[in-house]
Amino acid sequence: MKILNIIGARPQFIKVGIVNKSLEYDSRFTSVIVHTGQHYDENMSKIFFDELEIAKPDYNLGIGSASHGKQTAAMLSGIEDILLKEKPDWVIVYGDTNSTIAGSLAASKLHIRIAHVEAGLRSFNRKMPEEINRIATDHISDLLFAPTTTAMNLLEKEGLQEKSFFSGDVMYDSILYFEKLAEQKADLKNITDLLEFYLATIHRQENTDNPQKLQKIFTAFSQLDYPVLLPLHPRTKKMLTSITYNDNIKIIDPVSYLEMILLLKNCKKVLTDSGGLQKEAYFMKKQCITLRDETEWTETLENNWNFIVGTDVNLITEKVSSKRIEQQNNYFGNGNSVTKILDNIYNY
Ligand code: UD1
Repeated sequence: MKILNIIGARPQFIKVGIVNKSLEYDSRFTSVIVHTGQHYDENMSKIFFDELEIAKPDYNLGIGSASHGKQTAAMLSGIEDILLKEKPDWVIVYGDTNSTIAGSLAASKLHIRIAHVEAGLRSFNRKMPEEINRIATDHISDLLFAPTTTAMNLLEKEGLQEKSFFSGDVMYDSILYFEKLAEQKADLKNITDLLEFYLATIHRQENTDNPQKLQKIFTAFSQLDYPVLLPLHPRTKKMLTSITYNDNIKIIDPVSYLEMILLLKNCKKVLTDSGGLQKEAYFMKKQCITLRDETEWTETLENNWNFIVGTDVNLITEKVSSKRIEQQNNYFGNGNSVTKILDNIYNY
């Protein structure tokens, strides 16, 4: 059975990294990887392929940055050509980026079966480009793999239960696999001299493209009781010229996956607007302060493991000093999501 994986952005490299490990060793499948080129900087793309030992993509469309319409249209056209040539039995798309919607749309028009990994996530905020990508992808895919039971319930509410399966979260499988390797291969001293720090990331369009919100986040970070280590996404870096902040914020270049695991292990808490990092903080038992007005990962809010604070300066500083209750549940599965996904696809 030929599986064609479509990826393009950083979180998708992590997801395909763990899925393709199984695909490569499973004689039931042959695997093709298509990289749209949505992320193209060395430290946003190549480093993940090297570190996660993902085979070089069979195709790289090299599409890069553009407006949503232009970027998605170029992907759609490029992916269609590849699908016509490769004639896969299944396409797997991951998450909620423009590469996800382009891949699923191209495949659906050619009547190629589509599996969506990380289905059923909803923020109920249709201003987020990712929300549109998720809803559309779920409705045109043939198999939906929900990472949590909350996601399963949301798919059911949209009438999609018959094609939905609770698989658990492939990012949990991934962190279990790579955690030890991070200790062996990455070196904290190469990333930072700080011994005690908060770990932060900011890249959401709703924060980066709104200077008032971005300023509030930087004002809050400037006031925190420990330094804030901020591996900065290129999107955010471009917006910093009009922002003021002090040296409590330590900006570094984007880090690799293994380096991020090491930073998670060693930080005091996490402040982020990323979806993936909210979960990874939970997996690594670090409290998270989410710089958004909603989260798709509502399970993480239980027992104060995560707080939704938006960009309110007082709320950010207040929640950073909150305590949590130790208890966590295995909402994200048992680390065998990839096996469940591949078995379901094979037996479809
Ligand atoms: C995309 C996803 C988002 C995901 C994120 C992970 C969409 C709509 N958004 O957001 O869901 O959480 O990836 O990082 O698909 N840029 C570079 N170099 C790069 C990549 C990006 O300079 O290698 C800059 C460009 O200025 C670009 C901007 O970042 O315009 C935004 O990149 P884009 O891929 O459009 O969206 P992300 O913000 O990365």
